[in-house]
Amino acid sequence: MRSRYVVGNWKLNASLPGNESLLKALLSGVESQPGCHLAVCVPAPYFAQVRSLLVGSPVAWGGQDVSRFDKGAYTGDVAGGMLAEFGCRYVIVGHSERRALAGESDAVVAEKHAAARRAGLVPILCVGETLEERQRGVTEQVLARQLDAVLDGQGPQSLDGAVVAYEPVWAIGTGRTATSEQAQAVHAFLRARVGERDAALGARLPIIYGGSVKAGNAAELFAMPDVDGGLIGGASLVADEFLAIWRAAGLAPGRN
Ligand code: PGA
Repeated sequence: MRSRYVVGNWKLNASLPGNESLLKALLSGVESQPGCHLAVCVPAPYFAQVRSLLVGSPVAWGGQDVSRFDKGAYTGDVAGGMLAEFGCRYVIVGHSERRALAGESDAVVAEKHAAARRAGLVPILCVGETLEERQRGVTEQVLARQLDAVLDGQGPQSLDGAVVAYEPVWAIGTGRTATSEQAQAVHAFLRARVGERDAALGARLPIIYGGSVKAGNAAELFAMPDVDGGLIGGASLVADEFLAIWRAAGLAPGRN
């Protein structure tokens, strides 16, 4: 049985007082759900604050990026070991905003994925096509290229214990969600792609969906057989909305 994941991605939206009120509101309404994992991925300067508020609660925490290097002369980078020291369980790698704005190539993303694993973190590997790529009919080629960079570079076993997030770039922050059928088709494709290398790994790999997930569409998305939860941007900044998405994951039908 695959676990489900609901992970908030705060992006560049945080402040000491804002984080405290958001997390306190979250903690006052959250209940753990069997087989479901809940986390928030926050900007690195807030790891200590977030750890002190969330330690011992059902909410885990993580980062939004990680250096591909472990230590050395890499000004501005934050290493996986540093995230681990602050109790981070997860780290997002290859988010489309970093691919587009920080110029991260598939090869760099694969190196970051490896760095996360070395530090004992659970990488949340983001893949997704742009609107232009979808309209050109090359969605599967793009996703295969992004996934294969990790599969070929580090071997399929590097995805064992990781989470893959399908985030169509055209659905991120736009209010335009992929339909549950569109998401399901891509998730099945990704699972099959991993399954070609290792059938058991493909079957147990958690694949979550991100892109304008809200309380109002989460249940329908999470009911799809290959959608194992969500990576939530804007809606993770509103406690009630994020909690409703979390509960939708708990109510979704079981899957093998
Ligand atoms: P969104 O962002 O939910 O605001 O669309 C999702 C993401 O980028 O992870």
